[in-house]
Amino acid sequence: MSIPQIDGFSKLSKEKKIDWLSRHCFIDPSEAVAVIQQYWNSNEKMQQLHDEFIENAISNFYLPLGIAPNFIINDKVKVLPMVIEESSVVAAASNAAKFWAKRGGFKAKVMETEKIGHVHFCYRGDKKKLQDLFNVSKDQLLLSTDSITSNMRKRGGGITELKLIDKTAELPNYYQLAAHFETVDSMGANFINSCLEQFAKTWKSLVEHSANFVDDEVEIVMSILSNYVPNCLVRAWVSCPIHELADTTEDSLYFYEKFSQAIAIAEIEPYRAVTHNKGVMNGIDAVAIASGNDFRAIEAGVHAYAAKNGRYTSLTHVHLEDEIFTFSLEIPLAVGTVGGLTNLHPLVRWSHELMGKPNAKELMEIMAVAGLAQNFAALKSLTTIGIQQGHMKMHLLNILNQFSATDFEKEAMISHFKSEAVSYSAVEKALNTWRNQ
Ligand code: MEV
Repeated sequence: MSIPQIDGFSKLSKEKKIDWLSRHCFIDPSEAVAVIQQYWNSNEKMQQLHDEFIENAISNFYLPLGIAPNFIINDKVKVLPMVIEESSVVAAASNAAKFWAKRGGFKAKVMETEKIGHVHFCYRGDKKKLQDLFNVSKDQLLLSTDSITSNMRKRGGGITELKLIDKTAELPNYYQLAAHFETVDSMGANFINSCLEQFAKTWKSLVEHSANFVDDEVEIVMSILSNYVPNCLVRAWVSCPIHELADTTEDSLYFYEKFSQAIAIAEIEPYRAVTHNKGVMNGIDAVAIASGNDFRAIEAGVHAYAAKNGRYTSLTHVHLEDEIFTFSLEIPLAVGTVGGLTNLHPLVRWSHELMGKPNAKELMEIMAVAGLAQNFAALKSLTTIGIQQGHMKMHLLNILNQFSATDFEKEAMISHFKSEAVSYSAVEKALNTWRNQ
């Protein structure tokens, strides 16, 4: 099937877009339309709200919203909303929550909340001349953002620092205006980018109006926030006497041994560290999506942090002191509880209420705990029974759905696989045997 190019797709009505797509990209156009329409919301206002989130929206894409109850975070019970497609993630989070609820629960603490952005520019002239201009015009640069920052300042945030940085040792002629921000309860991307674009304009105009500079001596390349936020940090941890890690002291010590070996491996082996940290992100992304936060920004920042010392390593660590086992995670998380989707998407609003309407710092703590819990559950399985047993048990329903199993057949198969290992072929065989009987 060869697909023609199209001009002005975004200008077509939703119906025309779907019609074009189904005629040019699908073997059975009417089935393609039916699938898309099946996911439309019958409430027109609700559908319009979702259509207006992005360009060229033609339908909604469902992901399950699961619930992980029984989290104790800083001595309060929390229920976590998790949006994720992977079968075993919510079950793993719930198991870890229960395990640690019996051992004092999770603790979490935000250490810093600074965000950063840059005006990246090129300048070929005398360095001192540039620094002098920055020094005399720093206040004017800041003043030029006054109208953008006024609301944020009322909420206790704003621009906390503005610096000129010489990067010419790494890239010829490259400089930055580096701005630091406090964005309180918002993630702050729009706020930061608006301030930076204003800095760029003012900076360019200051250069143009300065007698010491010739026109175009400063060339702005771009103005954008950084998703690397190493000074927007949260720490989460759990701890208990080492002998309480399992039912007996012997089992506890054995568990600790294997668990800490798994961490040590992730600390020195990037191949393992990436998968290890992916497990951490299973929990963080799921809460990020449910809470309307930008999980791509979070992922990018967290992985950069995992490589901050020059080698990609584990985000979680274990520590044993005076017979007390501590398992911890420290990560950068730039998240918001106001702005963006948070007030718009009904399920996001619902999720915030479920979590007790956290502010941004509390949400950072909840998300860090979700990541730590997920990593604990993964390592606990990996170092004992292996990951597949639990994972495939959770995946059983997906496999049964692929064979269009009825509810009755599902019940029979769930009971059958209580004592059998789940695999695609084992399910196919068992279902066929059942059906033939
Ligand atoms: C799967 O989504 C996540 C794990 O691979 C994480 C890990 O290996 O630690 C189980």
